[in-house]
Amino acid sequence: MERLPGFRDFYPEPLPNADAWSADARNHIFRAWRETARRYGFREYDGPPLESLELFTLKSGDEIVDQLFNFVDKGERAVAMRPEMTPTLARMIATSERAYKKPIKWFALPQLFRYEKQQKGRLREHFQLNCDIFGEADTAADAELIALLIDTLRALGLSSDDFVIRLSSRNAWQEFFAKRCADESKAYAFYQVIDKLARESAENSHARLAALGFSLDEVRAFIAAGEPTAELRSVLDSLTARGLGAFVQVDYNVIRGLAYYTGVVFEAFDKKGEFRAIAGGGRYNNLVKLISGGKVDLPALGFGMGDVVLLELIKSRGLLPKFTAGVDVVALVEDEALRPETLALVQRLREAGFAADFSLVPVKGDKQFKRALELGAAHTVRLERSPEGEVVARLKHLQTREEKVLAPDTVVAALGR
Ligand code: HAM
Repeated sequence: MERLPGFRDFYPEPLPNADAWSADARNHIFRAWRETARRYGFREYDGPPLESLELFTLKSGDEIVDQLFNFVDKGERAVAMRPEMTPTLARMIATSERAYKKPIKWFALPQLFRYEKQQKGRLREHFQLNCDIFGEADTAADAELIALLIDTLRALGLSSDDFVIRLSSRNAWQEFFAKRCADESKAYAFYQVIDKLARESAENSHARLAALGFSLDEVRAFIAAGEPTAELRSVLDSLTARGLGAFVQVDYNVIRGLAYYTGVVFEAFDKKGEFRAIAGGGRYNNLVKLISGGKVDLPALGFGMGDVVLLELIKSRGLLPKFTAGVDVVALVEDEALRPETLALVQRLREAGFAADFSLVPVKGDKQFKRALELGAAHTVRLERSPEGEVVARLKHLQTREEKVLAPDTVVAALGR
């Protein structure tokens, strides 16, 4: 039985083959995500992986709707696996925001599902750090969110030599659009063309823009000028004051594909341009209102950072640590008569918080020792009977090879707890 294309198995290290995905690397990323969100005062939430289809068809835009894993469930409901977290979060906020002081700062680590063509950096399932702020319209919130994005990447060892945040504004593009076209209903189609400029051929972009009444030259000139709007200037100033100015640059090539964005938008890319976007986000001030049927109106902003491109990037920069089983002590049972006493010692070690392991069934001593080395254990401990008939513990530090003989009930203390 093979797994489905675009889905992953995660194995503990050492990995069975070079293409396997590492559960240890995934945890390493999750730890950095949670730890950075905590430093910025964000609280963790979660939602269901399966939602009503309507939640996404109404708000996200055509591209993501084309990529949905959707079906009719046994209760005749049209449902979809979540392709992104933002509509779920907007729904949760719309129903419960009154219970929370503003600004609301929340994060989640959802697994998301998109039926898209499998390619480098894009799979049919991925994990995403989502960080969002509700109830603050000031650009101070945009700057805070981008600082969090930068620090999340820095927490994994990346620097301004490795990545850049391209900062843009739907407002700037909206103004550009409104000056030349009075038909607001064409705006989303226009944004879609801009979103794909870098990936599409010039002829295609030219034709699609012409159909909407725009010229590729005027679009290119606007991007090349890259004049920051007042809101972008204020975001840049706040980031510069934090010493994070080197991580951002204004780039109107970014507009974001999703339909709901309204103001400042941004994407994180590796500096060499080798990979797809690492993260993307921005303002979506109208989504909560839309989802609540007009009942709740809260300014909002957020970003999503995927684990796939991120792992490719930190791997390519040699920033992944070496992962071991993290075993503190392996208890060696050489004298089977002492197995009950060994079990008691292992139990004491575990209760004291140590990761302790041992061979479940009788195995030759040298094999047990080899296994301790493979597990990367810091210590081994072996019980033996002294010539006087007493049970003593031989505690060995595997790196220094230093050995101590001590009473079994002092092993925990000897290990420093
Ligand atoms: P997005 O740009 O669709 O935004 O996704 C954010 C990030 O998720 C991308 O930059 C990429 O790293 C990763 N990603 C997306 N699709 C895939 C895929 N098929 N395979 C692997 N990685 C992928 C959103 O989803 C917005 N909801 C983010 C947001 C949160 N905006 C406001 N709050």
